[in-house]
Amino acid sequence: IKIRLINADQSETEVSGKPGDSLMKAAVDAGVSGIAADCGGTLTCATCHVYVDAAWADKLPAPIADESDMLDFAAAPVQPESRLSCQIVLTPELDGLVVKLPATQY
Ligand code: FES
Repeated sequence: IKIRLINADQSETEVSGKPGDSLMKAAVDAGVSGIAADCGGTLTCATCHVYVDAAWADKLPAPIADESDMLDFAAAPVQPESRLSCQIVLTPELDGLVVKLPATQY
């Protein structure tokens, strides 16, 4: 499952992950610096913040309340397309997913 990450400087990184992995894990495993993920995916850090491309937004399940609450702690401005990437579970339907990375996670 391939995901295109658009960095804050508009450069692009493609990563791939296995079904069931989180987008955060796929990015961290690939050494992407724009996703920090300090808490390792336990929804307590908000440093895995991403902006999901509008064309893909409705292919994702809605965030659970804990994700929405934790997004309030994200360093970069929260927008309607903001998600925490540790909560995005990769499925075959998400192949080609495009997300933008915020300029900072701190
Ligand atoms: Fe910490 Fe996602 S990795 S909230």
